[in-house]
Amino acid sequence: MRHARARVLTTSLAVLAAVAVSPLASPSRAAADDGVVGGQQVSVGDSPWAVALSSRDRFGGSRSGQFCGGVVVDRSTVLTAAHCLGPDVIGGPGGTVRDLKVIAGRDDLESTAGAEIPVRSMWVNPDYDERTNAGDVAVITLSTALPAGYVIPMADEGDPAYRPGTGAAVYGWGDTTGAGDYARTLHAARVQVLADSACERAYPGGPEGTYQSDSMLCAGVPEGGKDACQGDSGGPLVAQGKLIGLVSWGSGCGRPESPGVYTRVSDALRVLEQRTSRLPSVSEGA
Ligand code: ARG
Repeated sequence: MRHARARVLTTSLAVLAAVAVSPLASPSRAAADDGVVGGQQVSVGDSPWAVALSSRDRFGGSRSGQFCGGVVVDRSTVLTAAHCLGPDVIGGPGGTVRDLKVIAGRDDLESTAGAEIPVRSMWVNPDYDERTNAGDVAVITLSTALPAGYVIPMADEGDPAYRPGTGAAVYGWGDTTGAGDYARTLHAARVQVLADSACERAYPGGPEGTYQSDSMLCAGVPEGGKDACQGDSGGPLVAQGKLIGLVSWGSGCGRPESPGVYTRVSDALRVLEQRTSRLPSVSEGA
């Protein structure tokens, strides 16, 4: 979600940067080729499961209409964040956006590489809690299947990839500085899975959300400066070759005391198992 909150975030970060010696304020990080925040350019050839959500109707034609990330978990299935498909972002319940597409295989959003795949249907977790941000997951079913090589496996509960201290990487086309400098090409930053106790300390309950260890995980680096940011939401956090998180929320971007918070994929799997007995999915016009 980059539009609804971006203005507020930009203002608060500009103030922060002016008063604090933060990695975000360092000129060496100002270049657009230097983020997620604190990341580096990577190629979709090496990470084909990282996809962009697009609506040119709603977000304009530059950068292919990108507004969130997603991840290919099955040849026709993309996971993203519930808040990416909520009323704040796409303008209404159940897909008012007629031209929603998933862009796969495109590093540079100003190119026409790869494929723009229309959406057959989408399902937004009806239990997503806007106050805590718990349950931030949605499922997009593609109208045409991607090759099997695009799919990344998901880490289920108990997988060692969730252990605190595990190295992980977060991917996206979002803001690279926290000041609204959206990337043109895919970026990734290396972070570590943090202990639930640290995440709870960072987010005991506040305006951005409340950390809940059953449905979330958090990741960062002690010195800060490496993180997801606005526009990365819904995109992958990968550890040991498996998907462990979806970019969900945080306080600012890359602040040392405010790690990035992710939807815990093992919990999302439980939510998805139950979804067939829940609300029917909403069909897109495609
Ligand atoms: N909510 C943001 C989005 O919609 C993602 C924020 C992630 N922030 C962070 N500091 N990790 O794009």
